[in-house]
Amino acid sequence: MGTIVLLLSGPNLNLLGTREPEVYGSATLDDHVATATSVAAAHGLTVEHLQSNHEGDLVDAVHGARGRCAAIVINPGALTHYGWSLHDALAAYDGVVVEVHLSNPMTREPWRHTSVVAPVATGTVAGFGGDGYRLAIEAVAARLAVEDLR
Ligand code: DQA
Repeated sequence: MGTIVLLLSGPNLNLLGTREPEVYGSATLDDHVATATSVAAAHGLTVEHLQSNHEGDLVDAVHGARGRCAAIVINPGALTHYGWSLHDALAAYDGVVVEVHLSNPMTREPWRHTSVVAPVATGTVAGFGGDGYRLAIEAVAARLAVEDLR
C-alpha cells in the first residue's frame, strides 16, 4: 500500500506549545510533525498530516487512507475516549495503526483510562512526550518491514 504514513491529530492539539505545557510539553504540533517527517524519511516513508478539532474531518481522512496509505499514526486527543465514529472508521482501514499520546492517559483522570481507539490500533505509544512521535514512526517502519517479509 505504498509509503505514505497519514499522521492525524485530534482536537486541541493545534494548541500544543501553549496548552498545559506541564502536561504536554512546550513543543508545538509543527515540531512533532517535523520529527515524524524526518524519522519517516530515514525509512523511505512520507508523512501526510492533518489536524482537526472535528471528528468528521478525521473520519473522512481515515476513509481517504483506505488503499492509499501504508499506515496511520493518530493522536486522537480527547476523541480517544469517546470517538466511536473514529473507532469504526479505523476498523474499516486495513493498514498499520499506531495510537500515540504525549501524556500517559492511564496515570490521569479515570475518564481518560478508556481508549475506544486502542481496540482497532496495531499498538499504542503513550507517556513519552514528544519522543512518542519518533517511537510511533519507528513502530510503523518495523511493522511494515515485518509485513514485507511475509
Ligand atoms: C492526549 C491525551 C488525551 O487524554 C487528551 O484529551 C489530549 C491529548 C495526549 O497526547 O496525551 O488531548 O491524547
